[in-house]
Amino acid sequence: MKIYIGSDHAGYVFKKQLLNMYTCEDCGCFSNNSVDYPDIAKTVCTKINHDIDNNVKSIGILICGTGIGMSIAANKYDNIRCALVYNNECASLTRKHNDANVLALGARMTTFDNIKSIIDIFINTEFEGGRHQNRINKL
Ligand code: RB5
Repeated sequence: MKIYIGSDHAGYVFKKQLLNMYTCEDCGCFSNNSVDYPDIAKTVCTKINHDIDNNVKSIGILICGTGIGMSIAANKYDNIRCALVYNNECASLTRKHNDANVLALGARMTTFDNIKSIIDIFINTEFEGGRHQNRINKL
């Protein structure tokens, strides 16, 4: 499974640390300079949609100050189910129930260790399907 990671300036330091821990494609930003989070969300979501068209499974990780802007931006794109997650239980539930394919995180709201834990759970939890698939079909 491919992983795309992107952040704005607020998430840049955490993203740099995560790039040392996971095999993932860096979709920017590439410095501490201020950028607009919708541009980064667009890059990640476009790549995921390209993978969907080619039957490749991929997910995205988007980090901004709160995670809110990234989640709003990502959910504008077709085929994207982006979940803003602040704790381990929601990381698990959004995979099991929502089949979320993008994770939004708030670097200014929590610790790096919490974010790392959320990512590990998100990556390693499977969608349950069944009644949850019916609900996703209605989104
Ligand atoms: C940037 O200052 C901040 O607005 C952004 O990182 C994010 O929190 C927006 O939702």
